[in-house]
Amino acid sequence: MSRRISERRPTLSPLNRRQFLSGAAAVVGAAGIRYPIWALPGPSSAGNLLLGVDYYPDQTPESLWDEDSRMMAEFGFTNVRIAEFAWGLMEPAEGKFDFAWLHRAVETLHKYNISIILGTPSAAPPPWLMVKYPDVVEVNEKGEPLHPGGRRFTCPTNQVYRRLSLIIASAMAREFAETPGVIGWQIDNELTLGSSPRCYCNFCQAGFQTWLRSRYGSLDNLNKSWGTVFWSQTYTDFSQIPVPLPSGGDPNPGLALDYDRYQSYANVSFQDEQLVMLRKTCPRHFVTTNNVGLPLDTIDLRSLYEKLDFVAFDNYPGFFEMLLHQESNSPISPDTIPANIALGHDFARSLKGGKPFMIMEEQSGKAGQRSFSPQPEKGQVRLWTHQAVAHGAMGVNYFRWDTATFGAEEYWHGILNHDRSRSPGYNEIKQAVKELKGLGPEVLNSSYAADAALVFDYDCSWAVKIQPGNFALSYMAQVTSWYGAMSASHTGIDVITPGADLAAYKIVFAPVVYVLSEAQAARIRSFVQGGGMFVTNFRLGVKTETSQMVRTPLPGLLRDVMGVTVADYVPIYSAKQGVKFSSTVAGADGQCGLWADILQPSGAEVLGSYTNGEHAGEAAVTMNSFGKGKAIYIGGDLDAASLSRVLRAFAASAGVKRPFDVPAGVELTVRKSGDKQWIFLLNHTSVAQTVGLPTAFTDLLTKEAQSGTIELSGYGVKVLQASV
Ligand code: GAL
Repeated sequence: MSRRISERRPTLSPLNRRQFLSGAAAVVGAAGIRYPIWALPGPSSAGNLLLGVDYYPDQTPESLWDEDSRMMAEFGFTNVRIAEFAWGLMEPAEGKFDFAWLHRAVETLHKYNISIILGTPSAAPPPWLMVKYPDVVEVNEKGEPLHPGGRRFTCPTNQVYRRLSLIIASAMAREFAETPGVIGWQIDNELTLGSSPRCYCNFCQAGFQTWLRSRYGSLDNLNKSWGTVFWSQTYTDFSQIPVPLPSGGDPNPGLALDYDRYQSYANVSFQDEQLVMLRKTCPRHFVTTNNVGLPLDTIDLRSLYEKLDFVAFDNYPGFFEMLLHQESNSPISPDTIPANIALGHDFARSLKGGKPFMIMEEQSGKAGQRSFSPQPEKGQVRLWTHQAVAHGAMGVNYFRWDTATFGAEEYWHGILNHDRSRSPGYNEIKQAVKELKGLGPEVLNSSYAADAALVFDYDCSWAVKIQPGNFALSYMAQVTSWYGAMSASHTGIDVITPGADLAAYKIVFAPVVYVLSEAQAARIRSFVQGGGMFVTNFRLGVKTETSQMVRTPLPGLLRDVMGVTVADYVPIYSAKQGVKFSSTVAGADGQCGLWADILQPSGAEVLGSYTNGEHAGEAAVTMNSFGKGKAIYIGGDLDAASLSRVLRAFAASAGVKRPFDVPAGVELTVRKSGDKQWIFLLNHTSVAQTVGLPTAFTDLLTKEAQSGTIELSGYGVKVLQASV
C-alpha cells in the first residue's frame, strides 16, 4: 500500500454508514473489510467527487500531456477516464506488453491531482489479433460476418476473444493495481452499442445450446416449452437447435425470445469474467462499465450492473436529437428530448435500487461521426449536467478533452477544438463543474424520492419485437410515451424492472405487459391487494415466459385483478377508434392509434368507451377495485394528450403530488438526504420562464435567497434548498 493511502486513513471517520456501505461493496479484502480507495476523500479538495473528462493520451502527442493535465486541474476536473481503446499500444504483439507509456500518462495526470479511471480495451481488438484469430468476429442477423476496421465487431461468446480480452485486462490490472492515482475501472466500452450484442456465429450457436441445456434440463421440456411440434421442429439432440437466422418463415417465438435472453447473458458473462479478475487483482478500486441506455434494449442492464459498484451511462442529448431527425421528417416536440434523457437517467438510477450513478460521457459540443449535431445552445450543456444530477447522478465525465484530428470521430467535438483553442462550451462546462463541486458530496450522493414507478421489462420488449402484432407497435415507444406522459407531472418516477419491490410505490405504470410470469403476476396481485394502484394497457398477460399463448381468456393471470375479460384484440392500421371518457377522467374525447383491446367488464367500472366503428359503445378503459387497491386497464393506444391526462389523473388520485407547479418546458425534480431536500428547476426552453415559489428557498448555485415569483433564464437552472 502506498504512503499516500496510509496517510489518509485517519480521515475515514466522516464517512457516514451509507457511504461506507456503498463503498465497501467494492472491496474483497482477504483481511476483512477495507475501505476502497475511491471512498476515501480524494486527492482534490472536492473529496471523492467524480467530475472529470474522457481523455486520450494514446491519441495525443506526449509533449502535450503535461499541459493537458495542468489545464484539466485548472479547469477543476477531479478525474479522467483513459485507455479504453488502446489495446494495440498496450499489447503491440500477442503476449508482448508495453505499459510504459500508460504509466507515464498516469503519473503526469496524478502529478496534477487528477485521478484515473482505466478502461479495459476489449471493444477495439488490434489488427494482429484479427489476422491470427479471424473467427472472433461477430456474425450479424443475416448470417454475414462483420469485418475488422471499426470497433465492436467481435463475438461475446467466442472463447478465444474472451481469453485474449481477459489476458490484456489482467495484465493492465496487475500493472496498475497499486499505481497512485488510479481509482477505478470501466470494463470494455458500451457493450450495448451497435449490433454486437446480437451475434449469430457458430460459437454462439454452441453456447446457446449449452445454455438451453441448463435452462430446460431436458429436450422434452424444451420441446414442450417452445411447442416445437409446430412445423416439425422437434429436437432430438441439443446440437440440432439453430439460432434465429433467416429461414423460410419466422422462427419459433420461444426460441427467438430465448436467443435474446442468451445473448444478453453471454454479454454479461463476458463482462463478469473481467470483473472477477479485477475484484481479485485491484480490491481497492471501483469497477463499472459505461452504456448507452434506453432506447437500446439489447442487454439486460439490471444483470449487467448487478455486481458492479455503480451504474455509468453515456449521455448525448444533441446527438440523440439528430438521430431522431434522421429517422423522421416530422418535427420533434420540445418535450421529447428532455423526457427521453430523463427516462435514461431514471432507468440508470433505478437499476441499482436508487443508488447514485455516473455519467461517464456527457456531450460537450457538436457530436457525431459522418453527420453531427450542431453546437448545443448556450446553457444547454450546463443544463444537461444539472439534469443528470437532478435525476440521481453523483458524477459527470465530459466527452472528450480535446477533439481528435484523426480517426472516425474527428467530428465528435470536445472541450478543446482541433487547434486546441477553447470550444464554445468551455466556460460553461467549467462553470457547471464548479457548481457541482459547490453542491458537494451531500447533494451528489443524496437519494431521489419517487412515489410512482414505470416498469421496463426486457422480455416484453424482445417478445414484442419478435411479434409486434401491429408492425408499427413498439414496446420501447410505448414505455417512452408513458414516461413522457408522466414526466410532465414532475412527481418523480422510478423506472423499474420486474422483480422490483412494488410496495414502495403508490402507483405502478406498466404498459404492454405482453409476457407475464407467474411471479410478476403474483407481485402485481399483492401490490393491488395491499392498496396500490396498478395501471396497464393492451396486450396484458398474452404470453407465458416461454412465449406461448396463455390458454385462459385474456388478460390471463390477472383477469380477476383487472376485473375484465378481453373480448377481442384489434390491430389498427387506418381508421382510428375514438374514445370517450367518463367523468372520472373527464375531458376531450381521445383517439386510439395502433391497438384496441375490447374490454368486457366483470366487476370493473368503465371509464372510457370506444365511440365509432364496429366496437362503438364497448369498454376501452376500466378500473377495478381489488383488495384495498385499484387496477386500471387502458385497452386503447391513446393519443399523447389523452394518455397524459388519464395517467396524471390516476397518479393524482393515488396521492402522488409535486412540490409546486412549474410552467411547460420547465422540469422540477427533488433529491433528498435525511430531512434535507433540494429542488432542481431546469428550464429546457431557450426563453426565460417565471416560476411561483410557495415558500422561501436559497439557490445553492448563487447562494441567493429566492421567494415569490422568480425568473429562470433560457436553459437556466436553479437548485433550491428550503430555508431553515
Ligand atoms: C460513445 C463511445 C465513445 C465515443 C463517443 C462519441 O458512444 O463510448 O467511445 O465513441 O460515443 O462517439
